[in-house]
Amino acid sequence: MLNWFLLGLLLAAGLGLLLYWLLIVTEGVYLGRRIVVWMYDLTAHRYDRIKQFDGDAERFLVIRPLLGRLLERPAPLVLDVATGTGRLPAHLLDEPTFNGCVIGLDASARMLSQAWPKLSVYHHRANLVQQIAVDLPFANGVFDAVSCLEALEFFPDDTLALLEMVRVLRPGGTLLVTRRRGWEAKTFVGRYRDQETFEALLSSLGLIGVESRLWQIEYDLVFARKPEMIKD
Ligand SMILES: C[S@@+](CC[C@H](N)C(=O)[O-])C[C@H]1O[C@@H](n2cnc3c(N)ncnc32)[C@H](O)[C@@H]1O
Repeated sequence: MLNWFLLGLLLAAGLGLLLYWLLIVTEGVYLGRRIVVWMYDLTAHRYDRIKQFDGDAERFLVIRPLLGRLLERPAPLVLDVATGTGRLPAHLLDEPTFNGCVIGLDASARMLSQAWPKLSVYHHRANLVQQIAVDLPFANGVFDAVSCLEALEFFPDDTLALLEMVRVLRPGGTLLVTRRRGWEAKTFVGRYRDQETFEALLSSLGLIGVESRLWQIEYDLVFARKPEMIKD
């Protein structure tokens, strides 16, 4: 009788852990893209409260290093893939030295509807598109910078998404993405990449100047550049 009870307890604990890993740690990525997006739709109204972004940290660690790579462009065009509630576009557009336009793209309608009130004040300089991160609805080589923060690990295929980002980046343009790190990252079975492997992946996509920077406990920021076209 006691053995059956213990067995039941162990099974329940195992199931609980499995659900925790599937839904909380890996945010549904092993259950398919629709589940991931559905979960973001469900929690969109709480996202900013949970994340508590620090404006100064965003400015100094993300926005200014990005702007430093866009100096020679008077009015850069930036694409933020998986923009969520508009974190990167809002901080970028808030910078007095940024005179460009930002398009934020995300698959979750509700995340985008949280972003819009922050971005609509910038009128034509901000746009939002509801779309998944592959088959980006843009021509080749149109963006001066493409960013994707805290999202690659939730895409069905991060390499395909990166290929698309590189396609829409202009020659000489900047890619800014994040690499998941820390112990939770290692539980993304079959998807985790250490720094060396991640940088090698970006190089294999033709990018140069790949540079990882420690950003948060859970993420590195990774900058890279698409080479200029070689003139004959
Ligand atoms: C952790 S949030 C990051 C949002 C934002 N970049 C930030 O740093 O606050 C991940 C975002 O990825 C989006 N997302 C997940 N899978 C996606 C996909 N396949 N295509 C486009 N967006 C996706 C989610 O809707 C969510 O807004």
